Amino acid sequence: MSKILNIAVGSDHAGYELKSVVVDYLNTKGYKIKDCGCFSLESVDYPDYAQAVAKEILSERSQVGILICGTGIGVSIAANRYDGIRAAVCCNEELAEMTRKHNDANVLSLGARVFGDDIELIKSIIDKFLLTEFDGGRHEIRRDKLDIR
Ligand code: RB5
Repeated sequence: MSKILNIAVGSDHAGYELKSVVVDYLNTKGYKIKDCGCFSLESVDYPDYAQAVAKEILSERSQVGILICGTGIGVSIAANRYDGIRAAVCCNEELAEMTRKHNDANVLSLGARVFGDDIELIKSIIDKFLLTEFDGGRHEIRRDKLDIR
């Protein structure tokens, strides 16, 4: 993947507040952000926002996505229903690094109710995800088998 510049971000209501923090952080870093919603604390359905982020990536308007719900799991399951999307729930830097190196993950899923107030940890996970390259080689062969049904 060429240097990541364009990022699609989405959340449900459980992830809305963390999404605002994440969008502000990414803006300060100079990334171009497509905010796919949601835009309030009103209860919504996470598959809708996973779909919006997946479509941004599959249309190549964004190179990667960040999805947030309460656990990170719902948005991850939903996003992974779309061929070409490889979403990974990460709760530490090591997972973020390995899923980029080995899985070529193109969506980082975060659980807003998992981290407490540890915004610095979330920022470090995001940085690791965005700055780590895919290893390719044998991992490319495996990645390319993921979308075969
Ligand atoms: C919403 O309450 C919650 O179910 C959702 O954010 C997510 O955690 C689902 O996986």
